[in-house]
Amino acid sequence: MKKPVTRRSFIKNSALASLAIPIISSSLFSCKSEAKKEDTDSEITSKKLSILILGGTSFLGPHQVAYALSRGHSVSTFTRGKTKPSVHAELFDQVEQLIGDREDNLKALENRKWDVVIDNSGRNVEWTKATANLLKDNVGMYMYTSSTGVYYPYLTDNISEDIKLVIEMPEGLTENEKYEQEYGVMKANSELAAINAFGKARTIIVRPTYMIGPADKTDRFIYWPIRLAQGGEILVPGKKEDPVQYADVRDIAEWFIRLAENKQHGTYNGVGPKTAQTMQQFVKEAAKTFDVKSTFIMVDDYDFLIENKIYYSVPWIMGDEKNYGSARISNSKSIEAGLTLRPLTHTVKDTYAWWTSEALTEERRQKFEGNPNTLLSKEKIILENWKAKTS
Ligand SMILES: NC(=O)c1ccc[n+]([C@@H]2O[C@H](COP(=O)([O-])OP(=O)(O)OC[C@H]3O[C@@H](n4cnc5c(N)ncnc54)[C@H](OP(=O)(O)O)[C@@H]3O)[C@@H](O)[C@H]2O)c1
Repeated sequence: MKKPVTRRSFIKNSALASLAIPIISSSLFSCKSEAKKEDTDSEITSKKLSILILGGTSFLGPHQVAYALSRGHSVSTFTRGKTKPSVHAELFDQVEQLIGDREDNLKALENRKWDVVIDNSGRNVEWTKATANLLKDNVGMYMYTSSTGVYYPYLTDNISEDIKLVIEMPEGLTENEKYEQEYGVMKANSELAAINAFGKARTIIVRPTYMIGPADKTDRFIYWPIRLAQGGEILVPGKKEDPVQYADVRDIAEWFIRLAENKQHGTYNGVGPKTAQTMQQFVKEAAKTFDVKSTFIMVDDYDFLIENKIYYSVPWIMGDEKNYGSARISNSKSIEAGLTLRPLTHTVKDTYAWWTSEALTEERRQKFEGNPNTLLSKEKIILENWKAKTS
């Protein structure tokens, strides 16, 4: 029997993978209406902000740090001190690095004031409740990094920010169904925890879709830069009309900082590209990055892909009815609020440059490139079988 593969289960498969201080003055951080358009040019129009990033050393965080520093803001990070940045590591000398644990040690955040807190490491509703309540009287604005996963199951298209979310786990789910649903329910409740503590006028929620770009630890996208750089016959899983959505991590990171500078509030989907794209259009566009000849072979038979255990190659994932709208999410409100999206060729080029750079150890690269279970490793044999089946 064929197992439906959903957005969360492929990630799972691949991963097998307060304080009584006076209320902050409203003039320090009064917010614009969420519908108001942001200033998107690169000029820095706001005052210098003090920014606390919960997390900040993994994928999204270092890009936020780099952009914030470049615009004259000061940055503190709060982590356990375990994860080291694989981009912009040299900038961390300029960052106040606070150590603690969201699980049980927030001491480093006590009796401190910041203009903005960005909660990147929110993986548990209780963590967000605890930091939001601890910081609400000392920090102007709470920015919560959520996910388009809050829309699961993705039953419609053109999904906008105001759609009703699932906030309670439905009853009677199988273990696999629970796994599919729980990330979105956790993110939706974490959003509420931030809003409950800070109030709507002092909270920004950003819901990114798949982020791609330098420093990605998930290895979900790197097949494309590696293969497009080599050229030749390239296996493309999926039907050519399958929609795809993604966003360069730097576009999301930089937009976070501009949203804070512009004292915006509200909830926004962090989704690109600007206009709808199919899988076929994605590969054609991405291929322009490298001056090599590539031929794309679209393997569009889902049963065949399942037999070969190919369920995804981000930005493509194999859909089912619960994932119908996962790449059909509206970004119109976000574009209006200043989200800008760089060309895909820049993302592919920079991701490839990062992957082949000294920022990564050979061991790290080998862990992916030598893994026999990836599409990269299995591509040739699957293509041979596909040709035999379709000739
Ligand atoms: N990647 C995507 O495509 C995607 C898409 C949608 C949404 N998101 C969301 O984007 C956010 C950022 O993702 P990311 O990949 O950049 O970061 P992440 O891997 O989710 O977070 C890692 C950061 O949190 C810190 N951290 C982990 N456990 C901690 C603990 N117990 N106490 C204190 N700090 C802790 C880590 O440092 P230490 O290890 O040193 O503690 C590191 O700085 C996440 O909330 C994720 O859900 C990601």
